[in-house]
Amino acid sequence: MLILGIETSCDDTGVAILEADRAGCFNVLANIVASQIEVHKKYGGVYPFLAKREHQKNLPITFKRAFKKAGIFEKDIDLTAVTSGPGLEPCLWVGVTFAKDLAKKLNVPLIPVNHIESHILVNFLDKKNIIFPAICLVVSGGHTQLILMRGIGNYKILGETRDDAAGECFDKCAKLLGLGYPGGPIISKLAQGQTSKNIFPRPMMHTKDYDFSFSGLKTAVLYYLQKNKNQNKKQMAVEVQRAIIDVLLKKTIKATKDYRAKTIILGGGVSANAELRKQFKKAIKNDLYGFLPNGKNPYATNFLVPPTNLSTDNALMATICAYFHRTKKIAPSKLKANANLRID
Ligand code: KG4
Ligand code: ZN
Repeated sequence: MLILGIETSCDDTGVAILEADRAGCFNVLANIVASQIEVHKKYGGVYPFLAKREHQKNLPITFKRAFKKAGIFEKDIDLTAVTSGPGLEPCLWVGVTFAKDLAKKLNVPLIPVNHIESHILVNFLDKKNIIFPAICLVVSGGHTQLILMRGIGNYKILGETRDDAAGECFDKCAKLLGLGYPGGPIISKLAQGQTSKNIFPRPMMHTKDYDFSFSGLKTAVLYYLQKNKNQNKKQMAVEVQRAIIDVLLKKTIKATKDYRAKTIILGGGVSANAELRKQFKKAIKNDLYGFLPNGKNPYATNFLVPPTNLSTDNALMATICAYFHRTKKIAPSKLKANANLRID
């Protein structure tokens, strides 16, 4: 089965082609992403209508490139997948409209996919026999959610950010520090080899719920920079990064223990962060391994995190998600973009 995926939920235009055999083994034929970083860089953030225009321009080109890379023809496609939400509404509509027209033209099933679920299921590309329940942390530019997953399609949002997303906090702090856009990868690079002195607050780290709040951290950085001029940017980078990671880690480990989860799954752009991955591996080894009284059945031995190029937005994750939901086709005339689509 050949699945075509289209992703335009934010500022990356993605087209992917995935081959899935009867046993559920995947073969990636193409995964092309056209980034809009150059366009949004000068504004330090994504402008939805500018992003929409770029998607309209880039999608047909990216589509052609994907088929060329895969070495197949449109008529070979068995199923079309598209991200229908959550995301920036004008952007989502570009992909949704394109996919509807294509599904009609090729007369193939159209499967709408949830962007958050796609960030989780991309981890299933080469993994099977995942042990549930799992705790999923999806951290991107638009979302920060802690999700209890009892199986594919069975999700409960345990907590989420009350204001800024973790990626948004990276991006806004980078802007305050006069670094470029997107801030996450730049901060991550600058922070390498630095040690944090823990000067910034860890908002909501010790609350009993699973919610997050990152806008206070951004404000703390702003006030600190106003009071303390000419700060070393590398030191500031590690301070911001460590404050964000500490909160994400603490709440994820708490949820894993509370729900006796067997697996931790990360996804979303921020999960590309090297220090975050390192700290998760360390915490799982130190805090979770052997947590059960008999010590024989450590319950969080599984840690899934995508390769960095699949942490950030791409269309391959949409094809994988569609594979698992391949029976849930929708009539093209009924499909709508939904900026606030929920996973549970
Ligand atoms: O998932 P994604 O590509 O798009 C959304 O769905 O929002 O996530 C983009 C976010 C941006 O905020 C970016 O700064 C952040 O992910 N990001 C990172 C890293 N790479 C991307 N944050 C921290 N460290 C990174 N290495
Ligand atoms: Zn995303």
